[in-house]
Formats: sequence, C-alpha cells, structure tokens
Amino acid sequence: MPQSRPILTRALDFSKAHGLGVPILLAPMAGACPPSLSIAVGRAGGLGACGAVLMRPEDILAWASEVRAGGEGGFQINLWVPDPAPARNARAEDAVRSFLGRWGPEVAMDAGDVRLPDFATQCEALLEASPAAISSVMGLYPPAFVERMRARGIRWLATATTVTEARAAEDAGADAIVAQGMEAGGHRGAFDAARAEVDLVGLFALLPAVVDAVKVPVIAAGGIADPRGVAAALVLGASAVQIGTGFLRCPEANLPRTWADALARSLPEHTLVTRAFSGRAARSLATAYARAATGADAPPPAPYPVQRGLTRAMRDAATKAGDLEGMQAWAGQSAALASSRPAAEVVRELWEGALTVLA
Ligand SMILES: Cc1cc2nc3c(=O)[nH]c(=O)nc-3n(C[C@H](O)[C@H](O)[C@H](O)COP(=O)(O)O)c2cc1C
Repeated sequence: MPQSRPILTRALDFSKAHGLGVPILLAPMAGACPPSLSIAVGRAGGLGACGAVLMRPEDILAWASEVRAGGEGGFQINLWVPDPAPARNARAEDAVRSFLGRWGPEVAMDAGDVRLPDFATQCEALLEASPAAISSVMGLYPPAFVERMRARGIRWLATATTVTEARAAEDAGADAIVAQGMEAGGHRGAFDAARAEVDLVGLFALLPAVVDAVKVPVIAAGGIADPRGVAAALVLGASAVQIGTGFLRCPEANLPRTWADALARSLPEHTLVTRAFSGRAARSLATAYARAATGADAPPPAPYPVQRGLTRAMRDAATKAGDLEGMQAWAGQSAALASSRPAAEVVRELWEGALTVLA
C-alpha cells in the first residue's frame, strides 16, 4: 500500500472491497469466539471471526450456519498451520507432570497424547463453509489450498509477526497481511515456534515496516482496544484493525466472569508471553501459575500440543472453580481498555472515536 494514500481513503477502500461498514475485524480467538460475538460485530458493520483450530469439521459448519442465521455480516475462519509432530521426552514430561500436580489435579500418564483435529479435513470444512475470508497463523497454507480458496472468491488473510513472514505470505498469494504485534493476546503467530519468544516485535515497529515491505493491504493487530489505537494503526499505514482482547469483556463473548473481570484491572505489565499453557508461545495474564511456570526453577514446557494436554486438568479445574490463578486467561497488553458494553456499541465507538481523533 503506497504511503501517500490518504489515511481514510485507504481504510474505506478496504471496507468497501470486503463488504464492510467499518474497517474493524473481530480477531479469531479459539475457544473465545462464540457465534453471538460475530453476529454482533457483523451487525455493526465489522467482520466476524472463528478460531477453528480445535474444532471438528461439523462444528465449523455449525458455527458458520449459526452466524449466517443471526445476521448478514461476513466472517473469517482461522486455522493454525500445523507444526511438525512434536518430539516426545518422557523424562521432561514427567517433570512437567509433577510440577502441574502442585497446581491442580494429578496429571494422567497419557495426558500428553493429544490428538488434534485433522488439518486437511478442517480445510475442506472451511471451503464448504465458504466464509468471506480464511485466515492463517503460524505458517502458510499449501498452494493447492490457496488456489481452491481463490477459485471460490474467498480471501486469504495471513498473520505475520515479522517483515520476513509478511513477505513470504505475500509471495504465497495472501490477499492481506495481519501484522500481529507482540502486544497481542493469545498465541503468537510466528511461523517457527522456536522464534516466537525471540522475535518479539511491537506493533509500532512492525506495522509501518510491513506496510513498506508489501503491496497488499495490512491489517493491524495487537494492543488495539480504543479509538486512539484504531486511529494510530491507520496513521501507521494499516487498512483495517483486528481486535481480540478488546471484545472479550462484551456480554456476547460469554467469557468466564473471573477472566473478564481480571482483564479490566490488568495493566500492560500484568501480562506475559509463555509456553506454559500449550507449548506454543502465547500472551496470558500473569497469573500465579503463569509466573511460577516461567520461573527459573520450573521445568521447561513440553512442545505443542503435548503441553496443552498436560495442563488440561489444571485449566479445567481452575475454570470450574473460578480460580484465575490456574486458568488459561489469554490477554493482550491493552486488556484494561476492553469495554464491557455490547459488541455492536464497542464497534461503533471505536470507529466514530477514531474518526474524531483523525479529524
Ligand atoms: C483468547 C484468545 C484466543 C486467540 N486465538 C487465536 C487463534 O485461534 N488464532 C489466531 O490466529 N489468533 C488467535 N488469537 C490472537 C488474535 O487473533 C489477535 O492476534 C489478538 O487478539 C490481537 O491482539 P489483542 O488481543 O491485543 O487485540 C487469540 C487471542 C485471544 C485473546
């Protein structure tokens, strides 16, 4: 996107091209994007989203039907591009298992034997669901799938956490790049799991660098949760913004109350990036477990998805008990800016407020 294009023209062109009323996208959030949230965002002119990594094909199709039945709004569906099969290390997993036993129920011997939904079958379900856009994270879709997406008129939004990843995504045919700054809540989209905690680029540096490096539109993600953030992202060259944590306190998100309330009182320095929940680096509230598991004397987490299986009993028990300290409570650094008003109001306030800032 040429720098010289006026800020609003760029954003409005993007909205028009994607059939949106406003250049605001709900971020795909696995486990935290029920149809109700996408319906509300879509009604306000934004783009809904489904984080489908853990969903079976039939659940993906049911999600899409429910959103379509709820309104006219478009949506994206998102998958993680799978990492190579994890290397297992029984002794290291034993150490994690006994550490976790101090934070929750005893961890079953087979807890790390996680079977993820089959990626190829999920991809077929995505094509069948035929959303406005399909997004990727942690890698790139295979060329044959990109061709099939394109043949159906589905756009590919590719998440990148570095300029190098953004260039690779554009070369592979992405229609837009989602530049994910390290402020972002949830999993980092780094293509190489080993770099996810090293290449921690903030959005203020990443966004203009990606805008300068690619010709396709760039969508800004990470730490945007109020009109100032939306306006700043557009000034730095974004064509649209993608917001996750900023929607988590809306009633339509149905987040566990403990987690939603904790977002409201979290300063930027109250989150951390850790592999301790899933084995893949993700930004979480700095809960007691997250802090302990990143301490020098804690055992290194197992790779994804083994660690996800090992921590499951603790996470489930903590969620059931409403105990924040052992919950998986993803949060971006701007968590405290998240509004608890209905999502449609949040979308309107973000956009009208951004227009006021830009004026
Ligand atoms: C609860 C939660 C779950 C997430 N799950 C996914 C996911 O499945 N796929 C993905 O690409 N990004 C996921 N993300 C990252 C978001 O798509 C987005 O990059 C991030 O929310 C933007 O930063 P923000 O939270 O500060 O708005 C998740 C984020 C959160 C908070």
